[in-house]
Amino acid sequence: LTLTWTHESFDKGEFSHYMRKEIAEQPEAIRRTLSGRLESRFQTTHIGGLEMAARELLEVKRVKILGCGSAFIAGALGAHLIEQLARVPASAEPASEFRYRNPVIEQDTLYIAVSQSGETFDTLAAVQEVKRKGGRVLGIVNVVGSTIARECGRGIYVHAGPEIAVVATKTFTCTVVAFALLAIHLGRLHDLSTAQGARLLAALEALPGQIETILHQEARIATLAQTIAKHENAYFVGRAAGYPIAMEGALKLKEISYLHAEAYPASELKHGPLALISPQTPTVIVMPRDDLFAKNVSTIEEIRARNGLTFVVTQPGDPLPVAVDAVIEVPKSEPALDPLLLNIPLQLLAYHVALARDRNIDQPRNLAKSVTVE
Ligand code: G6P
Repeated sequence: LTLTWTHESFDKGEFSHYMRKEIAEQPEAIRRTLSGRLESRFQTTHIGGLEMAARELLEVKRVKILGCGSAFIAGALGAHLIEQLARVPASAEPASEFRYRNPVIEQDTLYIAVSQSGETFDTLAAVQEVKRKGGRVLGIVNVVGSTIARECGRGIYVHAGPEIAVVATKTFTCTVVAFALLAIHLGRLHDLSTAQGARLLAALEALPGQIETILHQEARIATLAQTIAKHENAYFVGRAAGYPIAMEGALKLKEISYLHAEAYPASELKHGPLALISPQTPTVIVMPRDDLFAKNVSTIEEIRARNGLTFVVTQPGDPLPVAVDAVIEVPKSEPALDPLLLNIPLQLLAYHVALARDRNIDQPRNLAKSVTVE
């Protein structure tokens, strides 16, 4: 598949920042990630660049995902998707940590390198370390023909299109979609039924329209951002796949607004961070209507007991059984894909906090789009 980018791709058009434009481009970008890859005949996915036959994929006993920054966080969500849909143990680790700790490379592990640019030095070095020790590695990369894509030799191109803003938005979302394609493919070789496969394919196709509805809530999110912009610290918490979303929400806010934002698994709050909860520290709670909903309600109660502000990102349903300071709702998808939608308001939140603080949104201080040095 060859895609060519028109001149307009590099133009901000009606938007005042590339980041905002790239947030808006997500529905269209997801359609490209999915293009030609949904195989409704067998309720599975087809990934041309994978170059791994069913037999080789079935030999995979573990998946280890490596990346930096938002690519690492997308990998953490990818690990959840693979474990949940294919029941193959999977975990993610920052590529830089991995390469320096003399990792054990296992023959029955599939290593996956994740990189938007395909040029991040630490991720490339991790790929080379895996290969040097005889491991097999796939790339999930956005830039076609980039160094990491070539070094891996096989994998999934994200096809999100060019991303100009330093912070990742559409490439993060589309990378997670690419992981969903892989997880469904692997799952359908294991125990995922045709009915489950069909539901997931339909849910993937529904994502662009659902993201449009979230983008329509921008005015409300911008109002909420005005409150957060007045503070110097914020927590983001979530459970299970909600935790990587909290990580990405905190990273985005920190990168462009320079507000100190920290992500925690909601369950860990009582093991330290509660000491810092006060009216000066707002907490964003990522809270899908899943089996852990009641646990998250308890977390909110703990925060409110210390007079902390609580902003909840959840899904439509019964009124929350606890008072909170603001609620943003996103549509429901299949449970495995819910995190993708829960993340979108956090992108808009970071954008509007940075706008309120008059930051250089597309070129934050001290950061580069791709870090090609050690
Ligand atoms: C830099 C960017 C991040 C990005 C990371 C990994 O730190 O500022 O936004 O997530 O590199 O980049 P990659 O191109 O490998 O995804």
